[in-house]
Amino acid sequence: MSNSVPKARRYLLGIETSCDDTGVAILDDEGKVLANELLSQIDAHQVFNGVVPEIASRKHFETIHTLLDRALESAGLSWGDLSAVACTIGPGLIGSLLVGVCTGKAVACALGIPFIPVNHLIGHIFSNALTHPELAPPFIVLLVSGGHTDLYAVVSYEDLRHLGGTLDDAAGEAFDKGARILGLPYPGGPSVSKAAETGDPHSVRFPLPLKKQGTMDFSFSGLKTALLYHMKKHPDSSVSDAAASYQEAITDILVEKTFLAGRQTGYRKLVFAGGVSANRALREKARSRAAKWGYTVFFPRVEDCMDNAAMIARAGWHALWSGAVHQPKATVDSSLTIEKTQAVTKGSGSSKA
Ligand SMILES: [Fe+2]
Repeated sequence: MSNSVPKARRYLLGIETSCDDTGVAILDDEGKVLANELLSQIDAHQVFNGVVPEIASRKHFETIHTLLDRALESAGLSWGDLSAVACTIGPGLIGSLLVGVCTGKAVACALGIPFIPVNHLIGHIFSNALTHPELAPPFIVLLVSGGHTDLYAVVSYEDLRHLGGTLDDAAGEAFDKGARILGLPYPGGPSVSKAAETGDPHSVRFPLPLKKQGTMDFSFSGLKTALLYHMKKHPDSSVSDAAASYQEAITDILVEKTFLAGRQTGYRKLVFAGGVSANRALREKARSRAAKWGYTVFFPRVEDCMDNAAMIARAGWHALWSGAVHQPKATVDSSLTIEKTQAVTKGSGSSKA
């Protein structure tokens, strides 16, 4: 398989099926998003208060072909115009990942074009590049979602250094568990955020685990327990006030640690990525502190914070133009980490993804 992409056919297909959103996107050779189709399965999972893996993979299987057709149609392209396929291979739900990877490989094989595996977490970092094409390393990134709360120093896109991460629950998980305690619907992030709009963020003083310590690690399980005890002790207290105070505590810790990473590394660009980066309180707090302390903060557009295929295509686009080649043997890895991806990259003896 040739690494060079014919000039007249530089359109990259992105596929994302790691969890409960089916995504198909198409980028042109300047990284412009021509199509970004997304089908959320939230209605199917909401009744279970969380994602059911078997339902998720079946839904991906039922919808991915329709999304492929829709993406080609909205981009005004046909199958023969595609020049590469970038696809999430992990981390995520194994059955869901398999649907995307099998589809991506089938497309790449049928068209004789490169299959480029993408780490979903690196895709989230690239969601910022969709909105801020000028953004370039070095920078700090806080990856914050339902499954991850990790700080990295991005020296280059091929050299990410882990600075700290959660010791127990991820921030998104803390929002989900908090929502359950407060009797709010799944997913917890948006529902806690909505309830918090009419609440007083200073009405309840929740603990801020590890906030003032020099570590860049996080801990949220004690906070969730504190919310549980508060609601048990004060069953008639305002849900909005509790939600606002709980959100205040989570976002305080996230902002504190991200700026600590900036201070300790000397990096002045702070990037937020992942589902929780859509949180309005987090954005306002980070922006206000950045303005005061002379940092620049970057957030993806709210719609790009969630899982989507445009960010996967954008990560694949970077890998492809950095020299990545057809990788037909790349396979799904439900527990794929950034470190594993980097080890594979370095093991290949080149900068190729
Ligand atoms: Fe994600």
